[in-house]
Amino acid sequence: MRAAPSSFREKVVLITGASRGIGRSLALRLAREGALLALAARGRERLEDTAAECRARGAQAMAWVADVSHQEECRTLVERTLETFGRLEMLVNNAGFGVQAGLAELPDPRSIAQVLAVNFLGAATCTFYALPHLKRSKGRIVAVSSLNTLLPAAEGASYVASKAAMNGFFDSLRLELNGTGVSVTVVCPGLVRSEFHESMQDARGLPYGARGRAMYGERMMQAEMAAAIILRAAAQRRREVRFRPGTLLAWLRLLAPGLLDRFILQAGRRRNGAARGD
Ligand SMILES: NC(=O)c1ccc[n+]([C@@H]2O[C@H](COP(=O)([O-])OP(=O)(O)OC[C@H]3O[C@@H](n4cnc5c(N)ncnc54)[C@H](OP(=O)(O)O)[C@@H]3O)[C@@H](O)[C@H]2O)c1
Repeated sequence: MRAAPSSFREKVVLITGASRGIGRSLALRLAREGALLALAARGRERLEDTAAECRARGAQAMAWVADVSHQEECRTLVERTLETFGRLEMLVNNAGFGVQAGLAELPDPRSIAQVLAVNFLGAATCTFYALPHLKRSKGRIVAVSSLNTLLPAAEGASYVASKAAMNGFFDSLRLELNGTGVSVTVVCPGLVRSEFHESMQDARGLPYGARGRAMYGERMMQAEMAAAIILRAAAQRRREVRFRPGTLLAWLRLLAPGLLDRFILQAGRRRNGAARGD
């Protein structure tokens, strides 16, 4: 039986945070499906490596070094995509990082602003510059948020706030775009094996490193699987996709929020124990 043609063949897709993890897996999968790729992240070497892997799969791919917390860099990123490919059919706002530290442990409040600047403002700013082009192509917007929008995290207040801001922004934008043909898909992943946990910042702004890697469990979802779920949802123009156990958590939050808090605190203690090597 012949495979159905991909929704992304010959489509121009801009992915932020494409150098590793979920973004890289999205890029490689889209390359196989015949998309034309504009890839962005801050670290040049690994970004170029992703672009080269995409080209090796027969795709056209450009790599553009950009920090999405800088407004001008978001604008230039969209402009370069248009200069290179002449159009834009999908924007994947995927760039992000975590801060895992209690508010009282922070030496100053800078990391609160930083995580919002990257995770929320970066996504909103890229979307602002991409929007006229997406309207022209009746394209797709994907916002990679988190299950943490349903599940508060002890010692993760600013990260959770950045993702909750994304959900509010993109859910509202979906209404604004009603009738334009542009779809907005909010993605809420649970735990995914990538470099997210080792890159997560502690109270001193240092990456968790080995302590973060210790949080990876055998059964944690691989980035390739996350990418497959995200692209299926985007192809179907779904409004939201929650990874497991999202629906269960949503019900639990509604029906027994105190129980959910206890469960989160216990899980947090276990994870901190694993990070310390207890
Ligand atoms: N892994 C999980 O368990 C999990 C769960 C829920 C949600 N998510 C979300 O999924 C998304 C992807 O995360 P991941 O798991 O693939 O993590 P990852 O392996 O750490 O990848 C993060 C990507 O974002 C890029 N990035 C970080 N800061 C950036 C900035 N200021 N400007 C541009 N690019 C930036 C990184 O490249 P550079 O450092 O080179 O810039 C990298 O390409 C994030 O938004 C994350 O919040 C992840």
